[in-house]
This record gives sequence, structure tokens and C-alpha cells, in this order.
Amino acid sequence: MTPVFAKAYSPSEVHFQIEDCDNRNEPRKVMMCTPDYYNVVDVKNVYMQHQKGNINKERANIQWDNIRNSYLALKNQKFLDDVVVINGVEGMEDMVFCANQSFPWVMWNGEKIAIMSRMRHENRQNEIPYIEDFYQDHGYKIVELQSKYHFEGMGDLIAHPGKRVLYGAYGFRSEKAVYDEISRIVDAPIITLELINEHHYHLDTCFLPLNHTEVLIAPDAFTPESLAIIRRMFEGVYEIPEDEAIDGFACNAHIIYGTNKNSSAAVIQRGNPVSLNIIQQSANPVIETDTTEFMKSGGSVFCLKMMFY
Ligand code: ARG
Repeated sequence: MTPVFAKAYSPSEVHFQIEDCDNRNEPRKVMMCTPDYYNVVDVKNVYMQHQKGNINKERANIQWDNIRNSYLALKNQKFLDDVVVINGVEGMEDMVFCANQSFPWVMWNGEKIAIMSRMRHENRQNEIPYIEDFYQDHGYKIVELQSKYHFEGMGDLIAHPGKRVLYGAYGFRSEKAVYDEISRIVDAPIITLELINEHHYHLDTCFLPLNHTEVLIAPDAFTPESLAIIRRMFEGVYEIPEDEAIDGFACNAHIIYGTNKNSSAAVIQRGNPVSLNIIQQSANPVIETDTTEFMKSGGSVFCLKMMFY
């Protein structure tokens, strides 16, 4: 086996195979943040253009409740151990997108840590202390980044299912240089991926690992080098149509990973037939839901939750 050092790797520097990386247990608890103060008040990404003041709050609440109910059903079916809800805070219109403020991890010795993000937008940075409180209540050690680079949590940093290796994206929100520090903190290699399409400003809009060998991607999101390394790390790479990736946020589905390749569940935005069909090959149930009010702000199911240990 090739020794795999904990550092940030550009695609051309990756000398190892996925089998060289250590195994890891997936988190089984989900956290959500209530949409009480959800709104679009400015333009942080292309989806938010012309959506200022255009959120149907009642519909947003219903859509959010439906997602929570889906998680409660998945808890009953033993896909999840817990569903925890924290309260949105007045003046924090984006806090409902609770995939972005942090990155949770379990160290070799079992210690649970949460790396806090450094958000690109000033008004989202205010959400961080509330997320810290959540982690403190759940026995996590809070880790603040020492470097000054931007980092947007699970929006841009996604682990290979079941493995101690991660994919860290940059180009719009997080900065490439932050992944050196994060790889040292989590003591695991991070493969950096460059995003080049403003519709895919976060990695979770274009990259959806289905299990440890297959991934769903929006190919237009990446540079050729980044695409090539994704193809090396996954045996099955499914390219989905751009309309499902952009209009349907299909890569922003949430796969709740089971212990083997075919024991996952999934929640996905309704109306993405190609992606749905692919996901159904390895996940059951696959719950279709509506997140149209949240897509106006640039997020769907994956952004509206945080998986934690
Ligand atoms: N309006 C939010 C922002 O631009 C949306 C965040 C979506 N989250 C995600 N993980 N892609 O910051």
C-alpha cells in the first residue's frame, strides 16, 4: 500500500488509489435549522438574482417541514439515529442552510471535532456562534481556523463515503489554500477540486457520491484536471444533464449512507428523472420532495441539513 499523507493534493499530485485510504464510519444523525427567518435579502449567488423579496414564507415552511418529516420517517426505518432541530435567528436569513457553517469529523482516538467555517459573506459569518453552541451541546471540540482563508464547511468539503479522504473545492466560496490547514486538523488527505461554473459555486451543487465506488456529477462544473481525478477515485461516474443539475439541484440531493453499497436512503428534489433513476440503483427509499422556495436562494436538500456524529 502507498502511504497517504495528510495534506492537500492538487489532482496532478494524487499518487494513491482509493484502496490505499483508511476506512471511516459515516455519521448517522441529522441537524436542521428552522426557516423562521429565512429570506432572500441580497445576491450571494446567481440563483438569488431577482429573488429579493420573492420568497413564499408559508410554502418554505411547508417544504422544510416535509424534509424534517422525511428524516423522522428515515429514523423510524433505522437509517438515522437522531433528528435534531435548532432555531433560526432573527436577521440571519441564510442560517437555514446549515451545511455551510461547519465541518464535523471524528479523530482516530474517537474525539469529535467541529471545524468552524470562515464564510465568504460577512452577514453569514454571524451564524457561526449559534452553530458552535449546537456542537458544544453534543460533546464536540470546536476548532477555529488559524489561517484567514475562506471556508464554507460541508458546502465545499465532502468526504469519500466510508473512507478517510476528502474532496475540497475552491473557486467561488472556499479558498484552495485553506485545505492545507484542514487536512492537518482532520489528519486525512484532501483532494482539491476547482469549480469554474457560477451555477456550481459550492461542491454540493455538482458532486454527489452515491457510495464508495459511484458518484453523480455535473461535468461542466469542473476543470479537466478535476474531472480526471474524480474519474480515478470513483469506478462509476454518472454525468447528469445540466438542467437537472442547475434547475433541479439534483446533485444537492442527500444520500444517507448505509453500511454497504446498497443500503442507503436518499432525499432529492422532485422532477429529476435521470438522477432519480441512477440514485434508485443503490438507495431505497429515495424520497422526492419540493425545495423550490430554497432553490431561489441557491440551495436544496443537502444544504438544508448537517450530518453529525
Ligand atoms: N443563499 C445561500 C448562500 O448563498 C445558499 C447556501 C446554499 N448552501 C449550499 N450548501 N450550497 O450562501
